[in-house]
Amino acid sequence: MDKLVVTGGRPLVGRVRISGAKNAALPLMAACLLTRGKNRLTNVPGLRDVRTMGRLLDTLGAKNHTRKDRIYIDTAEARGEEAPYELVKTMRASVLALGPLVARRGRARVSLPGGCAIGERPIDQHLKGLEAMGTKIVLEEGYVVAEAKRLKGAEISLDLVTVTGTENLVMAACLAKGTSVIKNAAREPEVVDLCQALINAGARISGAGTATITVEGVDELSPLDHRVMPDRIEAGTYMVAAGITRGELTITEAPLEHLSAVVGKLKEAGVRFQQTPKGLVVSARRAPKPVNLITGPYPGFPTDLQAQLMALMALNNGSAVVQETIFENRFMHVPELRRLGADIEVTGSTAVVKGVRQLKGAKVMATDLRASACLVLAALAAEGDTHISRVYHLDRGYEKIDQKLGAAGAKVRRASEPAPGKK
Ligand code: EPZ
Repeated sequence: MDKLVVTGGRPLVGRVRISGAKNAALPLMAACLLTRGKNRLTNVPGLRDVRTMGRLLDTLGAKNHTRKDRIYIDTAEARGEEAPYELVKTMRASVLALGPLVARRGRARVSLPGGCAIGERPIDQHLKGLEAMGTKIVLEEGYVVAEAKRLKGAEISLDLVTVTGTENLVMAACLAKGTSVIKNAAREPEVVDLCQALINAGARISGAGTATITVEGVDELSPLDHRVMPDRIEAGTYMVAAGITRGELTITEAPLEHLSAVVGKLKEAGVRFQQTPKGLVVSARRAPKPVNLITGPYPGFPTDLQAQLMALMALNNGSAVVQETIFENRFMHVPELRRLGADIEVTGSTAVVKGVRQLKGAKVMATDLRASACLVLAALAAEGDTHISRVYHLDRGYEKIDQKLGAAGAKVRRASEPAPGKK
């Protein structure tokens, strides 16, 4: 297993290019299962999760190969109907195969994803919507077995906002007979990106980006040919990197229009933003001011940037309150931040972060994707060396993060470490 060794205390100065969005690429890859032909996605990030989704598509008979940031997915011979536990347990987003398989093949056997570090993460809303469209759902041996001769359009009111739930139901509705209306739909930009790609392939979707998405089913979709949108969570992570190291980063391809809540909070904390012909220059000169934040569905503050903002707040010149409303266990980074010297008190889903003057390097452990990004950020500001173990979490969602940080002056190196319990 790899670890990252970060020597902190150096302001980041340089350029960073934002890659394609993981959480847009994954549903877009699954959406190719709705088609029969040669699909192409460009600006695809080189991530562990993208490779896992590629393996899942392979097992379903959708041959695919990647060339640089392009992935070619040929679904002409795709006959598979099963997403096996071995793959789904490593990546919950595999559940995105469910909607397309039921819609295209009339049958799907998808392993229940199981929980993960940040929460139980059920898929009851995905199943509720598919049942409303006429799917017979049976749970057996940890698998969802879903069957429907032909899905029929339905009106679905989701009990809560779910990103992949909305995506699964939009994809299923594309090939249903009749019109579907999905209420309380997720408004995330990644949902809009998926809908745009589907519309370009012949789907009839309106309301993407609003809480009510209407889909008029069609018989067939042409293959997808789409450029994945830039990753707003990666962009927000590098904005915090500039702020926490009191450096100056020129960030290119940052989807600023999708980051209003994040930029607003960072500006409140004293981080400065300047649009220039070379890109967005993000800088800071002094300790961040305390800002309070509450995560929420888009366009609220994204839960996927909560841990990163908390790293910045560890050094604030007062006291900040962070509330997590989306996942029930998304403070796994707190005990690790404390090992670096942070002063954080957690009560339920609220963390009070009393700023400290300085963090000190230590051995810490990554627990999930965004918590590992938070530890990298804190390590960049900490005095001395920080060893971050289980860095495979990071590789799931951040393309070449050590290279990108290194190019901006960070001292980051990857090292191997013995598996737990071995010398
Ligand atoms: C997507 O996960 C993202 N993943 C997550 O990013 C992100 O944190 C999350 O949306 C929220 O924005 C992808 O897009 C691949 P949800 P998703 O369904 O769709 C509950 C990352 O770091 N819920 O919007 O799985 C659920 O437990 C990842 O890139 C139900 O109760 O999240 C959670 O509390 C982490 N029943 C809340 O809703 C359901 O049927 C929101 O979950 C579905 C969800």
